[in-house]
Amino acid sequence: MKIVMLTGSPHIQGTTALLADEFYAGALEAGHEIVRFDTAQLKIEPCLGCDHCRIISGSCVHEDDMNQILDHLLEAEALVLVTPLYYFGMTAQLKRAVDRFYAINPALLEAPKKVYLISAGADQDPWAMEALVAHYRTICRYLNWEAAGEILALGAGVPRDLEGSEALVKARRMGKA
Ligand SMILES: Cc1cc2nc3c(=O)[nH]c(=O)nc-3n(C[C@H](O)[C@H](O)[C@H](O)COP(=O)(O)O)c2cc1C
Repeated sequence: MKIVMLTGSPHIQGTTALLADEFYAGALEAGHEIVRFDTAQLKIEPCLGCDHCRIISGSCVHEDDMNQILDHLLEAEALVLVTPLYYFGMTAQLKRAVDRFYAINPALLEAPKKVYLISAGADQDPWAMEALVAHYRTICRYLNWEAAGEILALGAGVPRDLEGSEALVKARRMGKA
């Protein structure tokens, strides 16, 4: 299976990077092809809403790293969204990339995918991830994609909070599957 992973944290060795690493390792172990893009480290301009892509099919006014992500995304059978919880949603870095899906929206509607959500946040409240999960499921519903699974690590404000956690085990297993 071809998998695209988009991470959204500015921390290269942060909490969600640990979960992303486990998923990635699990996917490789199982023989999947996985391509990872750390959106915070890439040049991805925010969508201007200019509709250039709609006037000249699929062509964005920005020429940046998003072009290669979209090429891989079109071919992928699975997408993994990895983000720390920022104000109860995804980070701006990841959202910038998701907004740029707009350029190829019609093609994405015809390109079925399983989508996985992986997140970590400092809060312990069971409701802390509800808005993020609702957003993820709504994106999947709109694009005719399958919301295939979630790993939501609460009480995980720094990487050491994940030491020996079930979330890391689940991430590895999810990547393998
Ligand atoms: C700007 C900002 C907003 C945050 N908002 C939340 C939040 O709404 N809920 C929460 O539980 N944690 C919140 N956090 C904490 C992070 O989600 C948490 O520290 C996480 O482990 C960071 O993961 P990372 O190291 O992969 O970036 C926030 C952190 C920052 C810097």
